[in-house]
Amino acid sequence: MHSINIIQPDDWHIHLRDDRALEITVALAEQSFARVLAMPNLVPPLTTVPSILSYRSRILASAKNAHFNPYFALYFTGELNANTLREAKHCPWILGVKWYPQGATTHSDWGIQDIHQHFEHLALMEELALPLLIHGEVTDSTIDIFDREARFIGNILNPLQQRFPKLPIVLEHITTRQAVDWVKSMPAHIAATITVHHLAFNRNHLLAGGLRPDYYCLPILKQQDHQQALQEAVMTSGQTHFFLGTDSAPHVQDKKYSACGCAGCFTSPIALALLAELFYEHKALSLLETFSSINGARFYQLPLNQQQVHLIQKEWMVPHHYTVDGLTFIPLLAGQTLSWQCQSIKGINHE
Ligand code: NCD
Ligand code: ZN
Repeated sequence: MHSINIIQPDDWHIHLRDDRALEITVALAEQSFARVLAMPNLVPPLTTVPSILSYRSRILASAKNAHFNPYFALYFTGELNANTLREAKHCPWILGVKWYPQGATTHSDWGIQDIHQHFEHLALMEELALPLLIHGEVTDSTIDIFDREARFIGNILNPLQQRFPKLPIVLEHITTRQAVDWVKSMPAHIAATITVHHLAFNRNHLLAGGLRPDYYCLPILKQQDHQQALQEAVMTSGQTHFFLGTDSAPHVQDKKYSACGCAGCFTSPIALALLAELFYEHKALSLLETFSSINGARFYQLPLNQQQVHLIQKEWMVPHHYTVDGLTFIPLLAGQTLSWQCQSIKGINHE
């Protein structure tokens, strides 16, 4: 039986939702991750530092592990102002500002339509070295959904980066070869998160042999060639630009499996197991730690975690659902068998 110990991973892009859902989302996140970066697309969105601090208290009230440490990004709306940006920079739990192009994804209605109207905020963020986290897709309905990320990079992101060359940027949940190549061509303060599902699956899993809503997320799963580009990116020794952000995005069963189902894959319970399986199959297990536990911490200038996780090759079945107080969430790969699991967490000392 194969096994590996790695520094405990962090999840730098997760949707914990709120209220009753926290009982499930926080419990699952803290089972695998020491730190998470929780996204601000609640209803209403998290647009101020006090709203984030209050959300943080609700999350910590649900946490059982005293070491679990949630971080946040502020939602970039038309109401954002310089004072809030300065306050955010001084808040130890806020790592950046999240820009959702309006209409790009779930709960992005409050997002920014034309970023050119907000250059003064980007200039201040550049001065403060406060990272801009981006959902990188154009929203023009005439652009094919599979092309929206590549178009965004060429038409919007690249000119933006040239205009604000020192602004730290995280291109979130990248899905294309174009994104990989662009990020690789950039200096160290430009990085990208990659999800487990975009590494493990492609659009055939969503569309071939039956339509499977569990695999529907935004940005949408792409062709196999793009999936391979993502795999090559994270399985290259010495790479520093790419790190794990699961984008685990649970939606209640009724909303996910409907005539107009919500976008989002609920991957928290399977993320580490599936990653270990994937890296093992590609004979790249030794590179898992860099992607899941080191690069993200380095980018955000945070210390490496002191605990280690023990991953072993041992089968288990993914639960069919998680239910709390009448809310049911179905995880990706529900009822299927995975061949790796996370067994224990132990303390280590990096000194
Ligand atoms: C996310 C959600 O449900 O909040 N959905 C998704 O498909 N990824 C939003 C997002 O990150 O785009
Ligand atoms: Zn997300």
